[in-house]
This record gives sequence, C-alpha cells and structure tokens, in this order.
Amino acid sequence: MSPLAWDRRKDDQLPAGAGRAGTSTLAARVRPTARLSSPVRVLGLGAYVPAGVLSNADLERMVDTSDEWIRTRTGIGERRVAGRGEATSDLAVQAARQALESAGMQPGDLELILLATATPDSPVPATVCHVQRELGAERATGFDLAAGCTGFVVAVMTAHSMVAAGSFRNALVIGAEKMTSITDYGARETCVLLGDGAGAMLLAVGGEGPELIDHLTGIDGGGSELIQVVAGGSRCPASEQTVGRGEHYLAMRGREVYRFAVSKVPGLVREILERNGLAPRDVDLIVPHQANLRILEAVARELGLGLDRFAINIDRFGNTSSASIPIALEEAHRAGRIARGDRVLLVAFGAGLTWGASLLAW
Ligand code: ACO
Repeated sequence: MSPLAWDRRKDDQLPAGAGRAGTSTLAARVRPTARLSSPVRVLGLGAYVPAGVLSNADLERMVDTSDEWIRTRTGIGERRVAGRGEATSDLAVQAARQALESAGMQPGDLELILLATATPDSPVPATVCHVQRELGAERATGFDLAAGCTGFVVAVMTAHSMVAAGSFRNALVIGAEKMTSITDYGARETCVLLGDGAGAMLLAVGGEGPELIDHLTGIDGGGSELIQVVAGGSRCPASEQTVGRGEHYLAMRGREVYRFAVSKVPGLVREILERNGLAPRDVDLIVPHQANLRILEAVARELGLGLDRFAINIDRFGNTSSASIPIALEEAHRAGRIARGDRVLLVAFGAGLTWGASLLAW
C-alpha cells in the first residue's frame, strides 16, 4: 500500500478559500482529548485474510440454508477461513508486517503491541507473545485485550492514551480473529456470519499523518448472555460434557443483538460527533464493524446518511469480529477512499455487550 502521510490532498482540489479544516486545524478546534497533550498519528495500516474461501454455496451443502437467505438477511456472500495449522497469531503477524512496512519501520523499533482478540491461540500465554516473537520485536512489551467485536476500538483508545502519556513512543494495534475456531457448523444462525482475518494500525507521536482525535466506549454486562462462549473459562471449565453440548462454540441471540446494535450505534455516533462539534454529515467515511449489512443500512438511515458514506466489505469477509474495522479501513485507504482533511469514524459493537467509536482526522 502507499504511505499514509498525505497521499491524496482533497484540499488541493477545492477552490481557493473553500478549503476544509486540515488535520491540524480540526485537531486544534475539536480535540476534547486535549488532556492528552501529544498528538498521536497513524503511521501505517495492514490487513490480512487467509486464502481459504467459504462461499454461501459451500454452506448450503453443510446446513439448511440458502444463498438467498444469507444475502438478504446479512449481505454476506463469502468469508475467509484460516487453514488447520493457522492460528490467530499467524494472521496477526501478517497484518502487523504490512503495517510496519507501510510505516517504514522495523520490528525492532516497536515499543508496544496491543492485540485485540476473542479467539486467542490458547488461554495462556497471551497471544501477543507469539506475535512479538514471530515479528522479532525484541524491545516491545504488550498485552491481549478482549472486548468482543469492539476490541480494536478499545485497543486503539488504550494505545492512544499510553503513547500520548509518553510511556511509549509508538504502538502497534492489531485486531485478529480465527472466528471459525469457535464456530459451530451445525448452527445455521451463526455459522453463516463468521470469518477469519486480521488488521493492524501503527501509532506514534511525531511525524505527519492522520491524527487520532477522540474515543468513546462503553460496556453493559447486563447483556453478557446475548453473545457468549459458555465453556472453557473458570466458571465452566472445558470437559467432555461441555464439548458434547457444544459449549465451546460461540452462541448468539441474534435478534436481540440486532435490536441492540440498531438502537445503540446511531446514538453513539451522534454523541462522539457532538462533543467534537460535528454532525453525521461532517464525517467523510464511517468504518463500521461488519456484522450485518441490514444493521448498517438501518444505522445509515437513522443518521440520515447514504450507505456510500460507509466502508463495507461484509459481502466478501463476513463478520471477523475485532479484525473487521482495521481490515475495512486498510482496504478503504488502499482504494483511495480517504483523503487528507477527511474525518473518519470507526464504530463498533459486540459481545459484552460492548460498543465504541474512534474519531480520526486524516
Ligand atoms: N438460513 C436459513 N434460515 C435461517 C438461518 C440460516 N442461516 N438462520 C436462521 N434462520 C431462520 C430461523 O430459524 C428463523 O426461522 P423460523 O422463523 O422458522 O423460526 C428465521 O430464519 C428467522 O430467524 P431470525 O433469527 O429472526 O432471523 P434474523 O432476520 O434476525 O437474522 C441474524 C438472523 C442474521 C443472525 C440477525 O439476527 C443478525 O445479524 N443479528 C446480529 C448479529 C450480530 O450483529 N452479531 C454481532 C456480534 S457477533 C460477535 O460478537 C462475534
């Protein structure tokens, strides 16, 4: 991919005097995170999806479903599937290498790595340790972070705070998932949704590039049973019985999650924008968690925006949980959909229940 720093200047295409707020102006005008003193910028992006493709036609042969049902209800046409020997850390490393390359940095330069995932390689050790070793990032520290499909936004917010506070000069934030490892291919209501992939974003103080402006996140444990893997933790350790009951798979109350998403996301978007002096129409690109096209259509309608204002790739990758936003962002950037001066909003919701949004000035 091309370098991130000011690769296409939308300002230049406007008549004199009609310039939009550039990054520095927007940041100065709207940053409520002024309490975080140093601007933190995006220096690189990366994304990786495994080669294996699982199409709707494949699923028609596995469960009682149809291409027509899946497309109409979810917008998904196919999803990627990691190989048997491929774990979440393997996907993460591929995306991380790409982000490093696009930033022109070496693994040895990294100081912090945050990995958002709901599908770690194993419960112990943290998956980020495998990523650190595989990258050869010998100076880096890091940790895993779990916030369901909101994980990437929470990780970006966390890394932003740690870098802006001066604890680290840079941070590699990764969202990586092998969702197919917790997918029950006997359950048609979930198996049609999920796919594998990873995305990464390299943040640093100094230099030029898109700036992180603000984040807004929330949780409501009252909804913890709407999306869950029941067994394999301390409350219900894995056993022959739990495996027999399929409790190591992701279970979801789809209709309730749908209602939650459609009612929560528009308010979340409005709140983070309002506190930055912006309205939905002021955002050039919304990069949402890719859960269901119908959810995105409802959110767009509620915000009074066209779907063309959204980065959408659910048709090709399905729901890759915490990987879906960085994959869609990298893709939108590579396709030239983001220009200097653009305001970009990342917005997610998921298991927990969790939700979160990040505002960037490109
Ligand atoms: N193929 C055919 N029929 C199906 C399928 C399928 N794959 N899945 C369910 N059905 C059937 C149901 O059995 C039901 O049949 P019935 O009327 O005879 O009982 C019918 O379709 C309607 O079921 P609903 O659950 O009402 O279908 P809905 O339109 O709500 O779509 C879906 C289900 C796609 C899961 C939707 O609810 C959804 O997308 N929810 C949100 C999911 C989400 O966003 N998850 C995010 C978090 S996931 C995570 O964190 C990893």
